[in-house]
Amino acid sequence: MNAKLAVIFFFLTFGFSMPVLLGFRDVYDIQLPNLHTYYQPEQPIPFSHRWHAGVLNMDCQYCHTSADHSRHAGIPNVSTCWNCHEKVLGKTTTAQENITKVRNAYLKGESVEWKRVHNVADFVYFNHQTHVRIAKFIDEEGKVHDGFSCQTCHGPMENAGVARQAENLSMGWCVNCHRDWNEKYEKAGIERFAPVNACDACHR
Ligand code: HEC
Ligand code: HEC
Ligand code: HEC
Ligand code: HEC
Ligand code: HEC
Repeated sequence: MNAKLAVIFFFLTFGFSMPVLLGFRDVYDIQLPNLHTYYQPEQPIPFSHRWHAGVLNMDCQYCHTSADHSRHAGIPNVSTCWNCHEKVLGKTTTAQENITKVRNAYLKGESVEWKRVHNVADFVYFNHQTHVRIAKFIDEEGKVHDGFSCQTCHGPMENAGVARQAENLSMGWCVNCHRDWNEKYEKAGIERFAPVNACDACHR
C-alpha cells in the first residue's frame, strides 16, 4: 500500500470509530477530519495580532468592523491602517520595513492581498451577527450577555501573529455547540434555540 493510501485508510478508520469512542452524541463527527485546524498561512505582511489587539489593546471590531451587523466580519482596508500608520513609522528596522509595505500600498492606492484563513464550504450558512450580537451568552455567574466573544470561536487571537484558525469548523463543531447551548438555555429558562436537526438552517 502506498503511503498516501495508508494515511487515508488510517483517517477513515479513525474517523468512523470516533463517534463510537466518544459516545453517540458526537455522531455528527462522522466525516473526514477537516485538516484546517491551526491553519496559519504566511501573509504578504507579517501583521501582528499580538501587537495590535494584545499590546495596544485594540478592539477586534476596530478592524473587523462588520462582525456585529452582518454575515461576514470583514478584513480591514489599508485605509484603516493608515489611521495610525500615516504617522506611526515603527521603531525597529523590521517594524519600519513592514510598515513601509503598508504605507506604500496605501500611497499607491493598492490593497494588501491577505490570504484567506477560514473558509467553510459554500453550502454552509454561517452568520457573524447572530453569534456576536444576537445569541445569548450565559457566563459562569449566570449573567446573560448579548453574543459570544470572538475568542469563543477564534481562540486567543490577541496572542497570535497573523491569524490562525483555532477550530476545525466541521459540522460536529457547530452542532455540538448548538446542542450544549440549547441545554443551557432550557436550564436558564431562556427561550432560545440553536438549530441542531434543522438541516436547512445551515444548508440553505
Ligand atoms: C490604532 C493605531 C494602529 C492601527 C489602526 C494599525 N496599527 Fe500597526 N502599529 C501601530 C503601532 C503603535 C505600532 C508599533 C510601531 C513601533 O513602535 O515599532 C504598529 C506596528 C505595526 C507593524 C510593525 C510590527 C513589527 O514589529 O513588524 C506592522 C507591520 C503594522 N503595524 C501593520 C498594520 C496594519 C497592516 C494595519 C491595518 C490592518 C495596522 N498596522 C493598523 C498602530 C496601529
Ligand atoms: C459557541 C457556540 C456556537 C458555535 C461554535 C456555533 N454556533 Fe451557531 N448558534 C449558537 C447559538 C447559541 C445560536 C442561537 C442564537 C439565537 O437565536 O439566540 C446559534 C444560531 C445559529 C443559527 C440560526 C440563526 C441564524 O444565523 O440563521 C445558524 C444558522 C447557526 N447558528 C450556524 C452555525 C454554523 C454553521 C456554525 C459552525 C460553522 C455555528 N453556528 C457554530 C452558538 C454557536
Ligand atoms: C460562533 C463562532 C464565531 C464567533 C463568536 C466569531 N466568529 Fe469569526 N468566524 C467563524 C466562522 C465559522 C468563520 C468562517 C466563515 C466562513 O468561512 O464563511 C469565521 C470567519 C471570520 C473571519 C474571516 C471571514 C469574514 O467573516 O470576514 C474574520 C475576520 C472573523 N471571523 C473575525 C471575527 C471577529 C472579529 C469576531 C468577534 C467580533 C468573530 N469572528 C466571532 C466563527 C465565529
Ligand atoms: C489593526 C487591525 C486588526 C485588529 C485590531 C484585529 N485584526 Fe484580525 N486581522 C487583521 C488583518 C490585517 C488580518 C489579515 C491578515 C491575517 O490573516 O492575519 C486579520 C485576520 C483575522 C482573522 C482571519 C481572517 C480569515 O481570513 O479567515 C481572524 C479570525 C481575525 N483576524 C480575528 C481577530 C480577532 C478575534 C481580533 C481581536 C482579538 C482581531 N482579529 C483584531 C487586522 C486586525
Ligand atoms: C449548525 C449548522 C449545521 C446543521 C444544523 C447541519 N449542518 Fe451539515 N454541515 C455543517 C457544516 C459546517 C458542514 C461542513 C463540514 C466540513 O466542511 O467539514 C456540514 C457538512 C455537511 C455535509 C457534507 C459532509 C460532511 O460531513 O462534511 C452533509 C452531507 C451535511 N452537512 C448534511 C446535513 C444534514 C442532513 C443535516 C440535518 C440533519 C445537517 N447537515 C445539519 C453545518 C450544519
